[in-house]
Amino acid sequence: MKNERPIVEALQKFVASEPQSLHVPGHKHGVLSALPNELKTALTYDVTELSGLDDFHHPEEAIASAELLLTKTYGADRSFFLVNGSTVGNLAMIYATCQRGDIIIVQRNAHKSVFHGIELVGAKPVYVTPQWDLQSGTAGSVSTEVLKEALQRYPNAKAVILTYPTYYGIVSQQLAQQIALCHEKHIPVLVDEAHGAHLIASKAFPVSALNLGADVVVQSAHKTLPAMTMASFLHIKSSLIQPEKINGYLRMLQSSSPSYLLLASLDDARHYVSTYLESDSMYLMDKRQQLVESLRSLPGLVVVEVDDPLKLLLRAPGYTGFQLKDAFENNQLYVELADAEQVLIILPLLKHGQSYPFGEMCIRIKDAVAELKKQKGEAVEQMGKQYEMAHITTSEYTFAEIGLMDKEWIPYMRAIGRVAASMLIPYPPGIPLFVPGEKITVAKLSQLEELLAMGAAFQGVHRLQEKLIYVIKH
Ligand SMILES: Cc1ncc(COP(=O)(O)O)c(C=O)c1O
Repeated sequence: MKNERPIVEALQKFVASEPQSLHVPGHKHGVLSALPNELKTALTYDVTELSGLDDFHHPEEAIASAELLLTKTYGADRSFFLVNGSTVGNLAMIYATCQRGDIIIVQRNAHKSVFHGIELVGAKPVYVTPQWDLQSGTAGSVSTEVLKEALQRYPNAKAVILTYPTYYGIVSQQLAQQIALCHEKHIPVLVDEAHGAHLIASKAFPVSALNLGADVVVQSAHKTLPAMTMASFLHIKSSLIQPEKINGYLRMLQSSSPSYLLLASLDDARHYVSTYLESDSMYLMDKRQQLVESLRSLPGLVVVEVDDPLKLLLRAPGYTGFQLKDAFENNQLYVELADAEQVLIILPLLKHGQSYPFGEMCIRIKDAVAELKKQKGEAVEQMGKQYEMAHITTSEYTFAEIGLMDKEWIPYMRAIGRVAASMLIPYPPGIPLFVPGEKITVAKLSQLEELLAMGAAFQGVHRLQEKLIYVIKH
């Protein structure tokens, strides 16, 4: 059973039968494609829902078997393959739990797909602000006290959405307790575990939210398992949410022409994780330790370990993470992300005996850091943790209401008392300073000034170079 890859096998059988295409897609098994040969070869497998290849939205054959294997691997009540990233999983879980006007408690530093889901549904978000994580110098998880208070203030909330682990590999040690608190009030917990599809692979990793009691867990298989970009999973294990309800939304939100390359890759990634042994994990952890030691021996480089062993933060004191990233790229090393202080790298989920060019990587990092030393440092004062934010906030309006309102750009110095029309996210810490619909206070503006003075980078819709922000028109 463990060696089965039903979708991969069905595709192989189909291709081996030398089929002629009288159907979509128009590249006709790649014959009409002008792509480079390596890509063209893959198009032989880029077929559609033909006899023997099942139907993604009403699976009964290979896809049904593969999803059943996924369900068993993760110990869920029901699991689904997603062909549009965790993004579509986040949208579906919000649609399945909330309706227009419902309250939803959401971790303030959620991914944009969560905000988009809330906007589409027309729910009213109550934001819970995460704690500052000292290890990584980024926003971590929400404290139990803050969540408890939010649940007391909003007992009618229809769902709680948390992110676990964060992009930087930080997990809450109190998640099980927090989920239990929500369940006492019959509120389902939806977890964006985009960065944690590998967590079930070994005891060396933090425990998956699914095994801590979460009702719905969404994972980007493509982030940490050997899966193609966009390939993702959604798992349900809940007495509060009907799998069919989520399934209904997935049918609406996902393509009616799913990519079989993605489906095969999902099948293969599930197989990879389900056959991952503790001996694989020991091998990986040993290789990782050797890497960490080699990196720590490099002068001018600091290695920070986080909760998820697949992630490492690298810093070059005196230089920004952006400078370090550029130096890396000059040496053909591409990191996951950079912020003012560091770069984030993601290690491969190696199995026993698999090799990865860590030695070459260390040589290139050594060269990159040496190159950096010849430049002038631009490091900014550490930012983010200095500013205190309200633990629980709400918006004056829903996203849908804001969408219908007139907006304008005004100098931020004149914005006190106005309502923000766009998200403004300083990095780090990656926690939105303004969320659309929130009132702009004196305290918020002084935080903005402070962050600007420290040279923070901002994401969101803004024209801060011109000292302008986007607000709702009076
Ligand atoms: C925390 C988090 N959630 C969700 C997503 C969206 O995942 P996907 O790219 O698989 O749609 C991301 C993407 O980076 C993410 O970081």
